Amino acid sequence: MLLTNMKKPILISGIQPTGRLHLGNYLGALKNFVELQNSGKYQCYFFVADYHSLTEDFDPNQKSEQILNLTADYLAAGLDPKKSAIFLQSRVPQSTELAWILGAITPFGELGRMTQFKDKSGAQKENVNVGLFTYPVLMAADILLYDAGVVPVGEDQLQHLELARTLARKFNSKFGQTFVESKALLTATPRLMSLDDPTKKMSKSSPAGCLFIDDEPAEIEKKIKAAVTDSGSEVKYDEQNKPAISNLLMIYGELSGKSVGEIEKKFSGKGYAEFKKSLAKTVVEYFADFRKQKTSLIKKPATLKKVLRLGSGQAHAIAKKKIHEIKNKIGLLI
Ligand code: AMP
Ligand code: TRP
Repeated sequence: MLLTNMKKPILISGIQPTGRLHLGNYLGALKNFVELQNSGKYQCYFFVADYHSLTEDFDPNQKSEQILNLTADYLAAGLDPKKSAIFLQSRVPQSTELAWILGAITPFGELGRMTQFKDKSGAQKENVNVGLFTYPVLMAADILLYDAGVVPVGEDQLQHLELARTLARKFNSKFGQTFVESKALLTATPRLMSLDDPTKKMSKSSPAGCLFIDDEPAEIEKKIKAAVTDSGSEVKYDEQNKPAISNLLMIYGELSGKSVGEIEKKFSGKGYAEFKKSLAKTVVEYFADFRKQKTSLIKKPATLKKVLRLGSGQAHAIAKKKIHEIKNKIGLLI
């Protein structure tokens, strides 16, 4: 079993169970999770970040459904419990224990400077909770607890990863070598832009610009047809002057395996409408198997729960040892 192969570098990442995954989540994170898992180069941990998701308004009657829905996304996309530990964050309480310990070496000012904190506290003014503020500390704990060397995420998480590295260094220099400084792994599309505004990143806070990966074919076609384009009519990659078409070209490339140059050539002299039609077909076909798998998995909550139980047990075993080492370093083991 992979978890016993201690020689491979450890890789960890998580996603919050807050709603449906969009193409930004997929091309910035999940697609890469699957490729990295299948590369066989890493010992992989992927989790459902349920504790992080509590920092946004939520309905307790929907939370377990959201957790299982994301687990189904993971499996339908190709994460495999035989190759990776797939677990639920809240089932490994050592992560919140470590978050407290790390909190005690985290400068208050650094958390206040986090872009995500500023964005989210602006967006949810009536719920600027302490969890939103300490969110990056829990994220650092998730990473450091497993000695992860590699963390695949989208660009918006880089600042949080930098904090994890800073905290690792600080802890190590204060209390002795304990943590690994992890590196971020970005994809070719670490910041996919919105379909209705190419100056904004695709984000679930603005669903009109999102393509959800479990959207039905008709919905995908409709959304791509309606996606904003740039002036002119040439299908050409030019981030400065054609940000919308460039974004669509990136999507096309990532899902078809073709280079941007090949796609430009294919649509040379053909205009936006034909390009969009072909893009919609590419997206629909790419996710056909995913949709089928997800529809079937979502009907099997017992299977999904079993996967999380198995993975959480694996993660828990590692976390228990590490927290012991950490508590020992700071003099808590009496
Ligand atoms: P979240 O939904 O915030 O838990 O994000 C899950 C993952 O998707 C994280 O690694 C994000 O960095 C990534 N992500 C979110 N939005 C985008 C986007 N528009 N482009 C690329 N990656 C993204
Ligand atoms: N904050 C991440 C996001 O919103 C989710 C997350 C929580 C995470 N803990 C993590 C990602 C640890 C990587 C590693 O996407």
